Amino acid sequence: MKVLIVGGGGREHALAWKISRSPLVEETIVAPGNAGTAAEARCEPVSAEDVDRQVALALREKVGLVVIGPEAALVAGLADRLAEAGVPVFGPTAAAARLEGSKIFAKEFMRRHGIPTADFSAHDTLESALAAVERRHGPCVVKADGLAAGKGVIVCRNPFEARGAVRDLLEERRYGEAGARVLIEDLLVGDEVSVLAICDGERILPFVPAQDHKAAYEGDTGPNTGGMGAYAPAPVLGDALREEVSDILERTVRGMASEGTPFRGILYAGLMICDGKPMVLEYNVRFGDPEIQPLVVMMKDDLVPVLAAAAAGDLRGASLAWHDGAALCVVLVAEGYPGRYEKDKPIEGLAEAAAMPDVTIFHAGTAHDGTRFVTSGGRVLGVTARGSDLTAAARAAYFAAGLIRWDGMRMRRDIGHRAL
Ligand code: AMP
Ligand code: GLY
Repeated sequence: MKVLIVGGGGREHALAWKISRSPLVEETIVAPGNAGTAAEARCEPVSAEDVDRQVALALREKVGLVVIGPEAALVAGLADRLAEAGVPVFGPTAAAARLEGSKIFAKEFMRRHGIPTADFSAHDTLESALAAVERRHGPCVVKADGLAAGKGVIVCRNPFEARGAVRDLLEERRYGEAGARVLIEDLLVGDEVSVLAICDGERILPFVPAQDHKAAYEGDTGPNTGGMGAYAPAPVLGDALREEVSDILERTVRGMASEGTPFRGILYAGLMICDGKPMVLEYNVRFGDPEIQPLVVMMKDDLVPVLAAAAAGDLRGASLAWHDGAALCVVLVAEGYPGRYEKDKPIEGLAEAAAMPDVTIFHAGTAHDGTRFVTSGGRVLGVTARGSDLTAAARAAYFAAGLIRWDGMRMRRDIGHRAL
């Protein structure tokens, strides 16, 4: 069959790398893709959020499966439209994608279904939000309700900072209508871990746990980014905790089905392990990036039959085996990211790095100018390596990353530090 992957970042390159290797797949198309996905698949210049043209592309190409990468396309209803057109699709409906599209919806859902999460209140006026900050006294977390490209979460050490965050969102509309409603919640302290599971509306098939590094600088300092690196499996989640997290994911899927919005696709729980108890920080409704980069290289089995089974609503009998050892991804970013950065810098050393054993390089923000690869985004490359253990994976990834250069390249040197 032909598979269409929607999106154009490191996540979609990792998916194209895995999916194009399946013996079931005769052709992989990525729309819009990037200069790296062009090496694995055919790229079509259709933007991920252009629902009409994505549906037209899927029909014209008679694809047997569409895998949707970015949340914005899901929230915009791309999965609904493809299903209406009779195209098998892996990704939740717009109604189910509210688990990510509205943080207030997600928290109220968790409260309704007894899923452990930080205590919270929701506000749509400045007065009520400021009053809630006063009642709390101490630290808290202020969040924009809607999608804000991962930037709408402000961890506040005291009421002074929280008042500023509330004003930024509700009064200044820093993230536009995404901040028209805000959440104020308790600050949780502990170890963070991401668990992704494939869901068919009723059943779940969890992946091994992964850990992301969102802060821009070493020691988890600096502003939050889309992710500076990740590794899997994350040892913070032992067998007993994995069971507890599976139970949380199962209850989530059952809850969505009971509310008439069954969840098919990737359910990603961002968790904080607080005093040995997993608490849900947030849900995402798609593959995490960069988490999916180490996860795909750890996957021993073909992913395509599992995605197709979930899309058809029947995961019974499906399984996924994983390689032994661990994988780690270090993201190479442009100087200045997550703020302003320059583009079009020629990248050197890519071929040498890619030739290293056990190393796979996923492109997130690159372009090809006819003769060479140049940078075209903030997150540029995900240098991913698999090893017999996390130390070996980290050594290989950092060796390969050290072969790559461009003017202004930067990386965190401590990916995996919590587990190493
Ligand atoms: P989110 O997009 O909701 O996952 O939030 C982004 C990041 O903010 C998370 O990965 C956490 O590091 C942090 N965060 C979110 N909610 C909380 C919370 N209640 N307590 C502590 N940190 C949080
Ligand atoms: N790595 C975090 C995310 O994909 O949201």
